[in-house]
This record gives sequence, C-alpha cells and structure tokens, in this order.
Amino acid sequence: MDPKLILMVCLFLIPVTAIADYVRPQPRKTLRFSWNPKPPNYPQQVHISLAGDRHMRVTWVTVDKYSPSIVEYGTSPGRYSSIAKGESTSYSYLFYSSGKIHHTVIGPLEHNTIYFYRCGGQGPDLQLKTPPAQFPVTFAVAGDLGQTGWTKTTLDHIDRCNYDLHLLPGDLSYADYLQHRWDTFGELVQPLASARPWMVTEGNHEEENIPLLKDGFESYNSRWKMPFEESGSSSNLYYSFEVAGVHVIMLGSYVDYDEQSDQYRWLKVDLSKVDRKKTPWLIVLFHVPWYNSNKAHQGEGDDMMMAMEPLLYAANVDIVLAGHVHAYERTKRVNTGRVDPCGTVHITIGDGGNREGLAHRYVNPQPEWSVFREASFGHGELKIVNSTHAFWSWHRNDDDEPVRSDQVWITSLISSGCVAEKKNELRKILVAP
Ligand SMILES: [Fe+2]
Repeated sequence: MDPKLILMVCLFLIPVTAIADYVRPQPRKTLRFSWNPKPPNYPQQVHISLAGDRHMRVTWVTVDKYSPSIVEYGTSPGRYSSIAKGESTSYSYLFYSSGKIHHTVIGPLEHNTIYFYRCGGQGPDLQLKTPPAQFPVTFAVAGDLGQTGWTKTTLDHIDRCNYDLHLLPGDLSYADYLQHRWDTFGELVQPLASARPWMVTEGNHEEENIPLLKDGFESYNSRWKMPFEESGSSSNLYYSFEVAGVHVIMLGSYVDYDEQSDQYRWLKVDLSKVDRKKTPWLIVLFHVPWYNSNKAHQGEGDDMMMAMEPLLYAANVDIVLAGHVHAYERTKRVNTGRVDPCGTVHITIGDGGNREGLAHRYVNPQPEWSVFREASFGHGELKIVNSTHAFWSWHRNDDDEPVRSDQVWITSLISSGCVAEKKNELRKILVAP
C-alpha cells in the first residue's frame, strides 16, 4: 500500500479510537405536552417538600379559585385519618394568570413511613414516603433539569433508584418568562416530586425580571415554597433543613451574599445552631459553582466564593453541590483554590437534561483539585451511610442507560479532627459584627 495512504488512514483512525468509548450525547428537544384539560378543581402539579421537624408541605395548583387548600392523609390507602388546611396564592405575569397555588403543611408524621394523601378533596390518591430519622439516608441530586427528552431520561433513572429526597441546585423549569412552562414542568415532575420531598434552590433561569414591572423570583417563590420561615430565614431564596443526621443549607447565588447582607447574617445564625453531634454531616447547595474547570461560566462564582468560603471553611462544610455548568465535575477537599484535607468536596452537577446542551470544553491542564470531569447528562446519588462515611456516585445517561462512571467514599470532617481544630476560627467569625 502507498505509505502516504497508510499515514492518512492512521491519522483518521487515531482520534476516532480515542473517543470511541463514549460518544457525547446531543441535546434533545423540549418535550411536547398534549393539551389535557382536567376539571377546574382537579389538583395538578403536586409536589412535596420538608417543612420543619416531621412536617411536609404539599403544593398543588387548581384552575378553580374556590378549591379548598386541604390535604387529607393517613397510612392506609383511601382512608384518611387526618386533615390539614393550608394557604394559597396566585400571581399574574403580563397576560398570564396562574391557577390557585395551594401550600398545605401536614404532620407531625412518622419517619420512614408511607402516607396516602389527597389534595383539595379531589383527584387521585397519592402516596409519599417520609425520610428516615437516622442514617442511612439517600439523596438523589440533579440540577439544571429543564423539560427535554434528556430530562425525562434523568427522571426515569432517578425513579429507579431507592432514595429518600431530591436535592436540586437550581434551574428547574427553564420557563424563562414563558409562564406556561412552569405548569408543564410541574406536571412533568409530579410523579417523582409528589412521592419524595424535592428541596430546591434557585438558579438564573428562575429569575424573570421585567424592569419597572416585575422583579426577581415571583413565579419560583409562588410555586416552589421552601421551609425558609421554619429555618429563620426571611427569604425563600436561602434556607436550611435537617434530615436524618444531615444539616443541609440552601444558598442563593443571585441574592446579596457579602458580609453585610441579610443572607450572610442569616447563614452565620444558622451555622451557630448546627450541632454536629446531632447532624454530623454539613452539606451546602447553591447554583453557580466555585470550583469549575469547565470553560463554561468560568469565574462566575468567584465573588460569592470570596465572600463566603472563609465562613463555610471554618464551619467545616463536608460537601458543596452546585449546578449551572452543564457538565459533571468532582473535586478533592479544597479551600482557597488549594487542596486541603479540612476543606470541602465540591461537586458540580448542572446537567439534568436542559435544552441548552452540554458544556464540552475544559481548562487544561486539569487543576490539581479536580478529580473527575465529564460532559454528560445524568444524576448523582449521595448515600450518607453513618456519621463518618458517605458514598457518592455519578450516573451519566449513556445511551439511555444509567452508567455509573464516577464513585467515591467520602469521610466526614467530624471524623477527621478538622471540626475540633477549627472551633476557635468558627467562633471568631460567628461573633464578628
Ligand atoms: Fe444556570
């Protein structure tokens, strides 16, 4: 054979062989939702969230403005031994008027128990499972969901796993001002979100500003009310909750976060209440990652990191979960840009399936703190096994099958001696004016 031809064939084959093991998936189209009218008082878009100790908030929407905000519930199907009455809200946005959005808190509930419930005295008998009182507890994690074919795949994969609650670090519906997309997203996620608590924080796609007319997060706040009042926060955009030995803090990347801000002040108060004997694990979520070696959104989290990392480091945060970048990345324990055994493991998981596609381009060489990075859609599972050990796994959507391509055991900072070591450092920050 002509040597030139052999060389050309070789040059052609090398890159093909290098990427043959995994072909990056393309974005999938936004799902089409058929118009399926229901009676005006039929409960739609049902989702649940934790609302303080042993309580759950049930949220749903009805077209009927007179439908009552009641939830009947009990531990036997179709037999409701308890009833709770809640509140409701609605909003309008230019030519759009929302349905009646109901928020009803039920409880006290038993731990690790299946409850059957019905919203507004109408509709189907739904069921939910409450989280356990103690370890083990498993979180499903997926951010930047949207409502595409990939979103559906991610939700199907999460549905197959045995988990207790869903953590979502921002960018839910990708409504982006088109309010009916909030409704279709609510319907899309109901099968999962009505069965396990969904604990969410806001991303940039939740912000729907219209200068002089609408500011901020009205749609998001109206529809996805989280337990901010229960955790002493004055804003739905940052709050905390505790579940089975884990203290989880949800922060807002798009709310003031400097030392004089309400969010920072609230965070200090919240951290001062954390009892590591009761909740040995401390996990924080926010939307824009601080440690990101993808070329997308480079440096966007720097200001928030400058303001808040010293506090989170002193408080011994075990794991940070972020979204925004449409790719997966996991770091070693880090602080101020350097590997630090008493620092935090940062995980970026902003690739639940949104319409914008994946972020393929990375900064090279890979920073020392970056352990694993991959552009794929998928979800994560975090199983907190006991007070010292947790198992993290990343499940990419490979050819529609969940493929576990990254996994690691994480040991808690409380078991490493870091918590005791930084006690004075934390006290100093917490008492500072
Ligand atoms: Fe985002």
